Amino acid sequence: MNLPARGRAAGKVILLGEHAVVYGRPALAAGLGLGLEVEVTASGGVLRVESDLASLADDPRPAALAAEAARALGLEPGGLTLRIRSGLPAGAGLGSSAALAIAVLRALAAAAGRRLGRDEELALGRRLEAIFHGHPSGIDPAAAAETGSGCIRFVRGEPPTVTALPTARPLPLVIALGPPRSTGAAVGGLRARWEADRARHERLFDQVAAVVEAGARAAEAGDLPALGRAFDENQALLEALGVSAPEVEALTAAARGAGALGAKLTGGGAGGAVIALAAEPERVAATLRTRQVETIVVRVGTAEEGKAA
Ligand code: MEV
Repeated sequence: MNLPARGRAAGKVILLGEHAVVYGRPALAAGLGLGLEVEVTASGGVLRVESDLASLADDPRPAALAAEAARALGLEPGGLTLRIRSGLPAGAGLGSSAALAIAVLRALAAAAGRRLGRDEELALGRRLEAIFHGHPSGIDPAAAAETGSGCIRFVRGEPPTVTALPTARPLPLVIALGPPRSTGAAVGGLRARWEADRARHERLFDQVAAVVEAGARAAEAGDLPALGRAFDENQALLEALGVSAPEVEALTAAARGAGALGAKLTGGGAGGAVIALAAEPERVAATLRTRQVETIVVRVGTAEEGKAA
């Protein structure tokens, strides 16, 4: 085995289409400059996972994920220690569990002297992400596997369809961090409501798909006001789907009040992060910070690498 070995993966923002993407509709995402790194070393005894994230300290899932990843790569999990260093807030909807899955796979593949092909990496990443939540579409591992902060259009499948979405200009975003929450609970709750009334939910998913396509055209053209409208329309549909929360709605209203062109939850919802599109994101972020909201400013899209601020 080649030890020590390292793997890295990025966090992500879902720009449009979360939740409906689980039901086969398209979604847009972008990689984040922030990411997560895993180092594998040899040690005696059972597999150990150490993390700088306090939230993972008593969580058995990273060790379960690492053991399953090791076995999938033909490695014996015993005798390995994995150290996680993360620049991503957990439970915010910024893809920390999928980034963990991809970084663990990359580190263990390097230890095994292998390089995973893209389809294999995404299929395994999705299988591992299911340890964190039951019905993953695969968009989070697909975005975590990207380098840079380009936008992608994603449709689930075996393998999924992942296409680059070039944007005429960088898309300036404020990420406002709300209270952490569980993606699994939000996805599971929506599944139960969908099972109880499929026709209503399928109609809402179709409306989300139309908003995603309009947003994709706006992003490609660099039309920020039109993309902002798509954010607001998507947020209204997420509220109708029951995956928003009062904290999210307070943050989207505050961002719009501070001059954002549109704002919505990102990722699992029910809390977590909000993204706001703004021509002057630093100004919107400064206003939100006066309300004790933690913010990150990024520019995603083709023309410029995203940078955390
Ligand atoms: C979570 O980041 C995105 C969801 O659409 C779930 C998934 O697609 O796996 C809520």
